[in-house]
Amino acid sequence: MNPANSCWLKSNKLKTMKSEELTNQIIAAAEKAGAYLLDSVQKLSSNDIETKGLNDFVSFVDKQSEAMLLEELSKIIPGSAFLAEESGAKSTGSDWTWIVDPLDGTTNYIHGIPLYSISIGLKNEDTLYAGVVYEPNLKEIFHAVANEGAFLNNKPIHVAKTASMKDSLWATGFPYHDFDKIEEYMEFIKYSIINSHGLRRLGSAAVDLVYTACGRIDGFFEFGLKPWDVAAGALIVQEAGGVVSDFSGDNQFVDNKEIIACNPLLYQEFFNKFREIYFN
Ligand code: IPD
Ligand code: CA
Ligand code: CA
Repeated sequence: MNPANSCWLKSNKLKTMKSEELTNQIIAAAEKAGAYLLDSVQKLSSNDIETKGLNDFVSFVDKQSEAMLLEELSKIIPGSAFLAEESGAKSTGSDWTWIVDPLDGTTNYIHGIPLYSISIGLKNEDTLYAGVVYEPNLKEIFHAVANEGAFLNNKPIHVAKTASMKDSLWATGFPYHDFDKIEEYMEFIKYSIINSHGLRRLGSAAVDLVYTACGRIDGFFEFGLKPWDVAAGALIVQEAGGVVSDFSGDNQFVDNKEIIACNPLLYQEFFNKFREIYFN
């Protein structure tokens, strides 16, 4: 199957059939890498951990998981391009690009905290087309295809219906290497702790996003993120009925290193307050 060279996506019938086939194959790749992550967690020792930057860690597990994923994903769409955390960008001239985080939540992983994920986005030119986030500890597979809805273990999911900040629960990622806006960020953290049900720091941006998509939390915001942290999860939030933007309210959340994802009833209240405090 080579979508880029076929009438794939042009016929509705073919699209329905092929998108299901496509997501099943992406999910199979994610499950294979997820089994590897679970199996390797006991084998990891502190000697295996390398530092890529301040508080930014990697081990053979991240690299091997990525190698497995790239091998499987390139079989699904031969000739496709990649943007993957550990091996970087590989352009091939294809319109199709996989955006891959082979282990989102490395800090949790190396500390033995069982909450991390695999995140696989698929872009057609500049448009997100499919996303899969797999959380192997709970065996939860979240997936979405553009205009076809979002699913958790193949059941449709929707964002929460909470309509005011005071009734909402949020997640964020605390800054750990880029502290440029730390004062403004902390001011907003203070506001949100006082004015909501609270704030979680789960440790995997992809999980923060899919938990927003299925309504476990109302929303998520973070700065300093990379495309592989958010591509898949952002599409899943949108397909679950959520709103995703960057901190300017625009849609450059994959590349602009800043993201707000939330249920639509809350977005404006959150956005206005966030802008007022963060950009004071
Ligand atoms: C990190 C996680 C974390 C977020 C960081 C990311 P990694 O990804 O998503 O929740 O706060 O900004 O870099 O390094 O574990 O793949
Ligand atoms: Ca990540
Ligand atoms: Ca990672």
